[in-house]
Amino acid sequence: MSARIAPSLLASDFARLAEQAALVEGADWLHVDVMDNHFVPNLTLGPPVVEALHKSTPLPLDCHLMIEDPDRWAPGYAELGAANVTFHAEAAADPVATARAIRAAGALAGLAVKPGTPLDPYLPVLPEFDTLLVMTVEPGFGGQDFVAAALPKVSAARRAVQAGHLRLILEVDGGVNAETIEDAAAAGADMFVAGTAVYGSGDPGAAIESLRATAQAAYDRAWPR
Ligand code: DX5
Ligand code: ZN
Repeated sequence: MSARIAPSLLASDFARLAEQAALVEGADWLHVDVMDNHFVPNLTLGPPVVEALHKSTPLPLDCHLMIEDPDRWAPGYAELGAANVTFHAEAAADPVATARAIRAAGALAGLAVKPGTPLDPYLPVLPEFDTLLVMTVEPGFGGQDFVAAALPKVSAARRAVQAGHLRLILEVDGGVNAETIEDAAAAGADMFVAGTAVYGSGDPGAAIESLRATAQAAYDRAWPR
């Protein structure tokens, strides 16, 4: 496993998105939080901004859709060039059809679950997905405290991957910082979204390197090969 870091633009300066993306060019993915003011009580950006970002950065875009009716809207983000399109299980009417449409448009498909949403009902659909995003805060805002109670879902998914039952990138999102990333990695996560911990630091590039090294070490201790 290689630990990967996805800085969240939500914690960056929205008036300078291209510059803010360039600040984290050492990252693995660039996490783009799409919020519609309905699924979550916050409003961020949508397709035109994703399209512009795709043209202005070489980083793979990791679009995290916190929106209602993702069945209708999610495939469009893949068509615009997103590398990974994640939508919420709680909002989707037909997650399998939506995942297939995202993949058909050329992106990886991700399923997100809020901290309190159990994983078990979604186990049968996970073979249709490339990414499982376990939220470690209530979606809607950056800068919240990490909810460690969500981590048993990451461990359950990691065990299923280890057993060969699933192939998934296991992503955690919310409150990830130099301390909490150890617990997330030990639980089995391999993709780490970090907003405040990257953009709130004096040196985003150094923060990425340090978070990645900490996660890799914690993962390797917990899941020896
Ligand atoms: C919250 C977003 C997160 C957020 C994380 O709804 O999905 O991606 O940007 O921000 P931090 O790392 O500050 O918790
Ligand atoms: Zn997010």
